[in-house]
Amino acid sequence: MSNHNVISLEAKLQVKVEKNNGFRHNGLYFSQLMLISMSYEHNMWAMTYDRYGSPDIFNLKQVSTPSIKDDEVLVKIHSSSINTPDIFFRSGITAFFGMSRFVTGIRRPKMEVLGWDVAGEIVKVGDNVTDLVPGDRVFGGVGGGAHAEYARAKPKNLAKLNEKISFEEAGVMPMSALSSLQGLRNAGEIKQNQDVLIYGASSGLGTFGVQIAKYYGTHVTGVASGKNEQIVRDIGADDFIDYTKRDFTAEDTKYDIVFDCVGRIPLKKWSKALKPEGRFVNAGSPNMSILGMFSRVGGNRFRSKKIRSFNQTYNTEDLDILQNMVSKGKMKSIIDVSYPIAKLSEAHRYYELRKTVGKVHIKIDFEETA
Ligand SMILES: NC(=O)c1ccc[n+]([C@@H]2O[C@H](COP(=O)([O-])OP(=O)(O)OC[C@H]3O[C@@H](n4cnc5c(N)ncnc54)[C@H](OP(=O)(O)O)[C@@H]3O)[C@@H](O)[C@H]2O)c1
Repeated sequence: MSNHNVISLEAKLQVKVEKNNGFRHNGLYFSQLMLISMSYEHNMWAMTYDRYGSPDIFNLKQVSTPSIKDDEVLVKIHSSSINTPDIFFRSGITAFFGMSRFVTGIRRPKMEVLGWDVAGEIVKVGDNVTDLVPGDRVFGGVGGGAHAEYARAKPKNLAKLNEKISFEEAGVMPMSALSSLQGLRNAGEIKQNQDVLIYGASSGLGTFGVQIAKYYGTHVTGVASGKNEQIVRDIGADDFIDYTKRDFTAEDTKYDIVFDCVGRIPLKKWSKALKPEGRFVNAGSPNMSILGMFSRVGGNRFRSKKIRSFNQTYNTEDLDILQNMVSKGKMKSIIDVSYPIAKLSEAHRYYELRKTVGKVHIKIDFEETA
């Protein structure tokens, strides 16, 4: 990519002001210099990064529009969100530094564009794709690359989006809501009438988790700080615990499932909060695989209680379960704040405070940023 294509936000604003020998297309101002090395068909706008660092690291830049394989589709993205992997991949700081850098890139990031959740429209399909056509509204996941105009995706990681659900609502759902669904259902084996505790009930995962646990007909206790009590009750929690005031792990109440969306309480404390056959489902700790190993070798404090970890996966069936819940009015996305893509740095900074109530939404509106 030539330097001509690299435009910081400031430089882009400069271009907008100067308006020398250029023209506007889709609301974007194109200078002649930029046109030398770009064409609309082959290039797209993206928020990129090329080294690990702080939230300020992103550059608005023209990059190649992803090419698709025969079994892939190209999605024009309208909406996305921020998730934990965005922070790991941007900062390069992860729980298992060495191991994770194999994934993110040892010295420099392997990926140029972050973003996992997508909601948008299909613009192109590969020769072997039969179930999606251009124009279909979809939502789901990509393996990074969502904070751009277009991303390539596997149809199995997407679902056709119900017309009644907005891109905004759908764009914040995939990773967090799937994590909660798969954590509670697959790892927790959730059943009607169980007692479920959602630790971090006001988080992205937690707000979906409370609603999913209610959908399964359980009695839900949500744990958050007092300022978030109303929202946690509004989304269906039967009981509320303010963690700043009560050490609920020392109390007598026992749960069938503890769904941990925070990861700050030691395991030995959780064992006391579980019924004899209870399950501790870990979503909050990055050390999920180690916890899984621990459960297999048998932590004796847990005895018959189970420590469960899980790997969230994108799949059409589960995305459809989630959107059916939304369509029936049984679940909604709680959006704390919505940022235009040009303010991605601010969005990262806000998410890193770990105070988000629900989700941070990213509006993919490159047309409006110039
Ligand atoms: N997002 C994902 O896709 C994803 C996927 C898999 C796993 N995870 C893991 O799941 C966890 C949740 O992720 P997220 O994106 O949903 O988080 P998040 O939205 O950033 O979580 C922020 C929320 O956590 C609450 N919180 C912070 N400390 C708390 C505590 N000690 N007790 C109870 N609540 C507390 C905050 O409420 P207060 O202001 O009231 O404290 C705030 O509402 C993370 O540990 C993440 O690594 C995330």
